[in-house]
Amino acid sequence: MSGELQQLEKDALAELAAVTTEEQILAVRTKYLGRKGLLTGLLRNIAQVPDAEKPLFGKRCNEVKNSVNCKIEDALKVQLTRKREDLLLKEKIDVTLPGRVVKCGRIHPVIQVRREICAIFASFGFSIVEGPEVELDYYNFEALNIPKDHPARDMQDTFYIEENIVLRTHTSPVQVRIMEKMKPPVRILSPGRVYRPDSDVSHTPMFHQIEGLLVEKGVSFADLKGMLTAFLKKVFGRETTLRFRPSFFPFTEPSAEVDIRCVMCNGRGCRVCGQSGWLEILGSGMVDPAVFQNVGYDPEEYTGFAFGLGLERIAMLKYGISDIRLFFENDIRFLRQF
Ligand code: PHE
Repeated sequence: MSGELQQLEKDALAELAAVTTEEQILAVRTKYLGRKGLLTGLLRNIAQVPDAEKPLFGKRCNEVKNSVNCKIEDALKVQLTRKREDLLLKEKIDVTLPGRVVKCGRIHPVIQVRREICAIFASFGFSIVEGPEVELDYYNFEALNIPKDHPARDMQDTFYIEENIVLRTHTSPVQVRIMEKMKPPVRILSPGRVYRPDSDVSHTPMFHQIEGLLVEKGVSFADLKGMLTAFLKKVFGRETTLRFRPSFFPFTEPSAEVDIRCVMCNGRGCRVCGQSGWLEILGSGMVDPAVFQNVGYDPEEYTGFAFGLGLERIAMLKYGISDIRLFFENDIRFLRQF
């Protein structure tokens, strides 16, 4: 019997040394130490052992059981560690790999220019207001001193929605809407979309304008000149040279267009400025008394000036863009540059 026991221990340890998986280890445990296992079987036969040897045999059985059990526990521990290592390898993260770059949107160049101009005039005490893009003929033309058969209507081709409703051709109708609503002093700036049926390298059927209006007591053309000069030097730089050129708008008198020295050729004459050395940048003038009368302001008491400029044009000059249509093609490669 004790020879069998010795053999059993040898076999168990040899089998354990050969197995590799947790399942196999557990099978060895069942085979030798289980309820119907080999060692249990030997113990059950203890009756055949002579009485004198019984205590020693029992002790040996326990020793074998413990030693085999210890080896099994060790083998299971090794298995567990290996399992963890496998998992670590499989889920390995290489923190030195370059990350995925998040693609960020940009502010559209026209909107950048709009924000910049709004900020400058806000610092001059102007509030930002908006008006409707679908506008009554009255606000777009009539109240601005442009009656139905007035030749000045030819200056701006118009999208008509109905006989008396248009897509506004400029932001000037906001002047009238504001003056109808509030009493002087007025300092407002109104950015927005405007529409004209034009399309070429410098015209799109929809574009953006900003309208400015200042009405107070004792405002003169010198105030207009001073403020627009300060504004344009902020946008185009202190070195910019300006010129105020007499012009005509039905809703301002006198009127002036403002040119800046060409930013492309610095006045030498190039394709962009049509060899003139100057770039037209905005329209302006003293509010016509007829407009004041239309909104119930007393032209004897108040004077004011207004101006309007095209945002795309400013953005084109600022960033050296030669085709206005690029702004509206939504080509990511174009837009990403700003
Ligand atoms: N509304 C004019 C245009 O679109 C610009 C302008 C605005 C001129 C205000 C004078 C005063 O051309």
